[in-house]
Amino acid sequence: MRTVTVRSSKEYEVLIGSGLLASAGESIKPLAKGKKAFIVSDDNVYPVYGRVLDKSLRSAGFSTDAFVMPHGEASKNLSVYGAILERMGSLHYTRTDIIVALGGGVVGDITGFAAATYQRGIDYVQIPTTLLAAVDSSVGGKTGVDLECGKNQVGCFCQPLIVIHDVDTLRTLPNLEYRNGCAEIIKYGMIGSRELMDAISARPVNEQYEDVIAVCVDMKRKLVEEDEFDRGSRMLLNFGHTVGHAIERCSNYTIPHGMAVSAGMDVITKAAAVLGFTDGSAYEALHGLLEQYSLPARCGYPAEKLLEAAQNDKKSGGDVITIVVPRSAGDCILKMINRPELMKWLLAGGVK
Ligand SMILES: NC(=O)c1ccc[n+]([C@@H]2O[C@H](COP(=O)([O-])OP(=O)(O)OC[C@H]3O[C@@H](n4cnc5c(N)ncnc54)[C@H](O)[C@@H]3O)[C@@H](O)[C@H]2O)c1
Repeated sequence: MRTVTVRSSKEYEVLIGSGLLASAGESIKPLAKGKKAFIVSDDNVYPVYGRVLDKSLRSAGFSTDAFVMPHGEASKNLSVYGAILERMGSLHYTRTDIIVALGGGVVGDITGFAAATYQRGIDYVQIPTTLLAAVDSSVGGKTGVDLECGKNQVGCFCQPLIVIHDVDTLRTLPNLEYRNGCAEIIKYGMIGSRELMDAISARPVNEQYEDVIAVCVDMKRKLVEEDEFDRGSRMLLNFGHTVGHAIERCSNYTIPHGMAVSAGMDVITKAAAVLGFTDGSAYEALHGLLEQYSLPARCGYPAEKLLEAAQNDKKSGGDVITIVVPRSAGDCILKMINRPELMKWLLAGGVK
């Protein structure tokens, strides 16, 4: 098992290893003030893993309740969020109890937001079951839900009590979700670790889950410790996301996040080479990995449409957008640009 300790406004551990779901109750017990645990999950994950978690919590002395939402991004909304709170209220949960998120990033984000706001804040535990959630969303305390006008438009920062990632849960992950997670792992490589890129080029991610996830979590730890509230270096994690979010929006969220980020990374890295921020080797390294993991490099939407979709991005402040630009594979910088410049980047990146 690997342990990464995050020292942000709240200090907590991220446990990564095999068989951790069955011992989750014991891991949580010393940290929890009360003895009631409210499990939030989705209808794909709960039927497979809910019973093991429930048993583990009960063996550790917790009483449990469960809220199971329909899977998918469409559930990450105010109405499901409200339903979680109402259910907790009707079951008389108090500030000493805990909420446990069992699932991917959708479950983790909405659960974290419910925990941050229920009775002005109660403790919550992240138990990520997707690769994307394991390497990214479960760590760092960004919580929230979507609005009609865009993704993650409501939310707050609220760090979990502990993150427990049982790598065995990844065995049932559909291939598409595996590749979505791999896109985020390639992102980590591009922003800060050429070694990680070489390692996942030499051996598939699913043959070295513990090592790869621990490296990514440790990179995220460092960025969260430096910049918990996302005003500086943490924004490096948005590599590929300005274009990626625009692609997601243009597709009405039918293109999954990882796929959109993959195309977004390709566009920006190609543009960085064309505009002289990096030589062609960074693009070659990225493009090779995207191909190896069957991830898309092209987005199919015209530049005008992407530009319009980027308008609503939280990464833009007024007319200025912060993009993440590679200097080489494993080294990126933040660059503030305005809207006409974004058009220039899109065109240089091969968007028509
Ligand atoms: N908070 C953050 O810092 C942060 C960072 C990145 C992404 N996000 C958010 O994360 C969300 C995406 O997360 P995601 O990719 O995990 O999507 P997800 O939660 O929708 O999960 C993807 C699919 O996999 C299924 N699934 C989950 N675990 C499974 C398992 N072990 N076996 C079989 N099926 C399983 C789910 O039911 C779902 O259908 C987005 O809403 C995104 O905005 C948040």
